[in-house]
Amino acid sequence: MSDNTHKCDIGFVGLGVMGKNLVLNLADNGYKIAAFDLDSEKVGAAMAQDVAENKTGVPRVVGCSSYTELLSQLKSPHLIVLSVPAGAVVDQVCQNLIGAGIHPDDIVIDTGNSLWTDTVERETKYKENFIFFSSAVSGGEVGARFGPALMPSGSAYAWTRVKPIWSAIAAKVDAETGKPLERTKPGEIIEHGEPCADYIGPAGAGHYVKMVHNGIEYADMQMICEAYHVLREGLGLDCEQIADIFAQWNEGVLDSYLMEISVEVLRHKDAETGKHLVDLILDKAGQKGTGLWTAVSSLEVGCPAPTISQAVYARSISSFKDLRGETSQKLSPPASVTISEDEKQDIIVQLHDALYCAKICAYAQGFQLMKLASVEQNWDLNFASIAKIWRSGCIIRARFLQSITDAFERNHKLENVLLDDFFAEQLSNYQQNWRLAVARATMIGIPIGAISASLSYYDSMRSAVLPANLLQGQRDYFGAHTFRRLDKPENHKFHVEWTEAGRPIRKI
Ligand code: 6PG
Repeated sequence: MSDNTHKCDIGFVGLGVMGKNLVLNLADNGYKIAAFDLDSEKVGAAMAQDVAENKTGVPRVVGCSSYTELLSQLKSPHLIVLSVPAGAVVDQVCQNLIGAGIHPDDIVIDTGNSLWTDTVERETKYKENFIFFSSAVSGGEVGARFGPALMPSGSAYAWTRVKPIWSAIAAKVDAETGKPLERTKPGEIIEHGEPCADYIGPAGAGHYVKMVHNGIEYADMQMICEAYHVLREGLGLDCEQIADIFAQWNEGVLDSYLMEISVEVLRHKDAETGKHLVDLILDKAGQKGTGLWTAVSSLEVGCPAPTISQAVYARSISSFKDLRGETSQKLSPPASVTISEDEKQDIIVQLHDALYCAKICAYAQGFQLMKLASVEQNWDLNFASIAKIWRSGCIIRARFLQSITDAFERNHKLENVLLDDFFAEQLSNYQQNWRLAVARATMIGIPIGAISASLSYYDSMRSAVLPANLLQGQRDYFGAHTFRRLDKPENHKFHVEWTEAGRPIRKI
């Protein structure tokens, strides 16, 4: 039995911005950390920041220069947190830990944005060597430092060991009101409230849920950008005017972190030129892949997520900057329309309502996707709990998430958010303005693909009859793919010869 008395509680690998801040968050909550990074400067920086911020005078972060030293500093059984790039690096670190002598009852937690299928494979692959657990983290660098949303999954035993730690460092919400309990200063801790960390399910489930979180994040961001585009290019408003509108929207149903940061981005002035920085940023969007994975998964699972997919396409089309420059010279815009000041005010209200309705549909898509994946993978996901986790700490945190939580608490089996009475009523109340906003943007030639994809989704989902009857006829015509009939039992399949001669008539 090793002497655990003076040893560290947690080992940490990867001291980039997220890793370092998670280490300091853990330290604030009373945990002693052994920290390692291949870049020794990062180890030094984490230790220095701990000393600078730590009022106790006792270092809480022990720097290590090898995996072997890291393990030797830890209490047994070891608990090691990884904050390294998703992909091959996770496996390299796991192999290094095996080489350094990690034990089968030690736990390794992957906090990166790993592909969920990789996580499933890793749990099995490393079973003989250690317990591979995962817990995606959302909230960016500030979240990591003062309270992220955490989506742990994997071994239920590992969760019993991780839970107290995760509950301590996670963002918290007031149990009564569902409002975030802000923590903003080093050393500050919040011991009450509901932690935004709860066990998601078996291996892979947590990373799947984080992937969908990011898909929704893509949709949310894109729709805010589309509203900005209409206000900027369509109505000719300047950055400050749009920031004022967004700030006002952020007081109501659209209250969210992403709206809040959009206001700050719009107001930010470039130190060099004094201009609004957003006007100087190249309009080519980057992406690391989680939105794309969500879109791909929605296609694979067969669950429509057109708003999320459209948000991914919008990033792709933005990257064709040169081509867009060329086509902008060649393709004509719609006939120009003059918009009066009164009409501008109407359009602003319509856009607000459009954003709200489109957002409801994006969340409906994300939650239904998780629901179908949960059935397919046998995860038994708890959607009220997932919505609760997302109420604070994460990038999509919003007042709105309390309404989603309420919907799933009213009905744990809710098949689609659109079926919830509250949301159905909201959509019914605001849909007219949503339609007007989409029509206006279309007439003035501003692309609002995600907001209109949500509208088509809404119209498709509320249509008891869709034109797939004609589609089935087309399929049967050229490929004898058969169809079923409304007036016959559903398990009967039919095929007909669609032309008199039993073969297609071609005009020569
Ligand atoms: C979060 C974010 C985080 C990261 C995105 C960025 O929840 O904290 O989602 O995980 O910022 O992965 O993704 P893109 O680079 O693809 O926009």
